[in-house]
Amino acid sequence: MISTLFRTKNVEQSIRDTEEPEQALSKTLSALDLTVFGVGVIIGTGIFVLTGKVAKENAGPAVSLAFVVAGVVCALAALCYAEFASTVPVAGSAYTFSYATLGELPAWIIGWDLVLEFALGTAVVAVGWSGYIRSLLDNAGWHLPASLGGRDGAHGFGFDILAAVLVLVLTAVLVVGVKLSARVTQLVVAVKVTVVLIVIVAGAFFVTGANYRPFIPPAQSAQAAGTLKAPLIQLMFGWTPSDFGVMGIFTAASVVFFAFIGFDIVATTAEETRNPQRDMPRGILGSLFICTALYVGVAIVVTGMQHYRDLSVDAPLADAFKAIGHPWYAGVISFGAAVGLTSVCMILLLGQTRVFFAMSRDGLLPRFFSRVHPRFKTPHRPTVLLGGLIAVVAGFTSLSELAELVNIGTLFAFIVVAIGVVILRRTRPDLPRSFRTPFVPVVPALSVCASLWLMLNLPAETWLRFAIWMAIGFLVYFLYGRAHSRLAPQEKPAPTGPPPPPERNDA
Ligand code: ALA
Repeated sequence: MISTLFRTKNVEQSIRDTEEPEQALSKTLSALDLTVFGVGVIIGTGIFVLTGKVAKENAGPAVSLAFVVAGVVCALAALCYAEFASTVPVAGSAYTFSYATLGELPAWIIGWDLVLEFALGTAVVAVGWSGYIRSLLDNAGWHLPASLGGRDGAHGFGFDILAAVLVLVLTAVLVVGVKLSARVTQLVVAVKVTVVLIVIVAGAFFVTGANYRPFIPPAQSAQAAGTLKAPLIQLMFGWTPSDFGVMGIFTAASVVFFAFIGFDIVATTAEETRNPQRDMPRGILGSLFICTALYVGVAIVVTGMQHYRDLSVDAPLADAFKAIGHPWYAGVISFGAAVGLTSVCMILLLGQTRVFFAMSRDGLLPRFFSRVHPRFKTPHRPTVLLGGLIAVVAGFTSLSELAELVNIGTLFAFIVVAIGVVILRRTRPDLPRSFRTPFVPVVPALSVCASLWLMLNLPAETWLRFAIWMAIGFLVYFLYGRAHSRLAPQEKPAPTGPPPPPERNDA
């Protein structure tokens, strides 16, 4: 029984699976495509929306330090992801990697966890997008009825029609093919990066030094004190829950972490990459580096333009320009943000369908979903199913708490990947690795500690929601996945010694 939970999928088998004609995705992406892909999904709601909220409520001008903290956590994880992605170049990201190393149950847990990350992430970003579009429509004198503007603005029934329509349109684009969506993404990414650069360069001329004083506002007692809304670490150690100060920077980092989500999705497209051994590490680390630099720049400029207490929580970058009397810049920024959020939404949706596809191909979810479209070569069935579900969730969802749930799921995946790097080095030292994580096991250990630290700075209620989601996942695995797994029929007694040497397959 225990051995079935930890049966692992042979790495060569994982790669061979992807070559079965009915299940093969076309290999068209280059390192540049991946970097664009990464930047396309990384820059989004995090920088455009959450910056203002955390500066105002948790960190003040030190929000730029929170971005540095979150960036360091992600860089450590990226070094681990890059080794895995360049070693096991098949669809599924952390799910696939853990199936090849830690065993079926941990892989299931991770896959289930990634479904949460990508599906809710897509919904969160779609809702953020809808907000920017409504604000642009309002400028033009068009007003949607409150009941079609989402849950937040409505009394009684509220459905965010724009968010739902966005998800459905993007689902159709993804069914038609990844190459098309990569082209669309390139254009969108160009607009988004331009807008971010406008914020940094134009905004720098309006910075007032007084807004940086104090750079780290003194700690003050939090409103959430004593409730499940307080960070778990503060409840665990009985600290007086506080905002601002040094702990406020970590609280802020655990929220703005959402702004970095996405570099791990680059790894989910390894199977569609022309030369994954070379291009994956370049794509992942490159996109992460570019985004960290831009975030810190934006955070420094925006908190210098407006006092942190005055920043808006809905559209802080655009509103900072309005506040200093430049509404034209604000309009351009709102437009760019809306365009940019489209690409984020699309790539999160793509990552989501690829994880589901990989789990189905392994038999842990119904095999029906792992047949690719005969003409488009895309996993159209999970794309349509999940796109439809996410459209409904996006329609009925409000934003902020879901972002924290996405963060905890992603950080958990980082921990499993870091542990997996160390295990795979021991169990399969023979595998070719075009990218090797430096200083193993020190870097993976630091990655585990850093990710755990951010998780502990999330509210206790986020931990509770995450635990409930994972409990449902256990039920699904034990009631369906374990019996239907492709590894189940060829069950052999657990080996007592070290695993046999792998077949050399140099072809
Ligand atoms: N990193 C992405 C965003 O900030 C998910 O929207």
